[in-house]
Amino acid sequence: MAEPVVLATWSFGKLAVEVASKLLTDGKSALDAVIAGAQAVERDPTVRSVGFGSLPDRIGRLTLDSCVMDGQTLNCGAVAGLEHIRSASAVARRVMEKTPHVLLTGEGAKWFALQQGFPLEMPHTLEGIQEWFEKHPTNKKKGEKAVIRGPEDFTLPIDESNHDTITVLGLDRAGHLGGVCTTSGLAYKLPGRVGDSPIIGAGLYVDDEAGAAGATGVGEEVIRISGSSFLVELMRAGKKPQEACELAAKRINAVAIRRGVHPPTCAFIALSPKGEIGAACTEATAFQYAVFKVGKIEVLKAKEIVLNK
Ligand code: GLY
Repeated sequence: MAEPVVLATWSFGKLAVEVASKLLTDGKSALDAVIAGAQAVERDPTVRSVGFGSLPDRIGRLTLDSCVMDGQTLNCGAVAGLEHIRSASAVARRVMEKTPHVLLTGEGAKWFALQQGFPLEMPHTLEGIQEWFEKHPTNKKKGEKAVIRGPEDFTLPIDESNHDTITVLGLDRAGHLGGVCTTSGLAYKLPGRVGDSPIIGAGLYVDDEAGAAGATGVGEEVIRISGSSFLVELMRAGKKPQEACELAAKRINAVAIRRGVHPPTCAFIALSPKGEIGAACTEATAFQYAVFKVGKIEVLKAKEIVLNK
């Protein structure tokens, strides 16, 4: 029998780890536990990049991305651009369990969620609407002609102040791995933009035979290196989770150098089938993660991989 382990991105992942670790200790499956943990964060309006109350897109719509994966069966499901449904991770799980597909998007994902009995809800908080209104260029100066500028005006740096994806990875008593990713994506994104979080192999990959991995940060850059799949394949080839995470952060740096851009904010977590953990991030990401291991919950700082190292 395996000793349960959970890890989750960012310090707000502690809530997910608290919920998931109790379920794993009670003998629940890794997938049940990590999704319950992620849902606790989706319900928390103080986390501004996950679930309800999170940061809307450029035209004020709050759209959610999520995926789930079961390491035993490699079953997976995902939704992207889901609107007016509270828990994107719960809908992603239904896609996995009730359809032959992996990913549903936009109106189709919403239609499916409604068919499955999820209630239609209003996702905005008053604070979120106010903040969006203040940040929108057409509202910056009263009376000024509306000007739509480049997406860079709406792309905030990702850090502890505006958070990012919650990714939760778990190992259950039966020795199976499960994982989930859920987010509202990059704050003030262009409508229709999809990041790494609902993309199996980018934001998340889980395989009992190799390990589980998840990402957070600038989704475009995680997609560019197939981040989580890259990490899991490194573990399959014998790397420990910590080394695999550091290699993924180095790869992000190397791609940035090759493309002549500043290395983006990205971070990775990983969990081996034996319960070993790893975490690393690119320079100045100040990435923290929450972990439950040997009965103890801690929030730890990940190793930063600086350029040219
Ligand atoms: N990592 C979340 C996103 O880029 O949407």
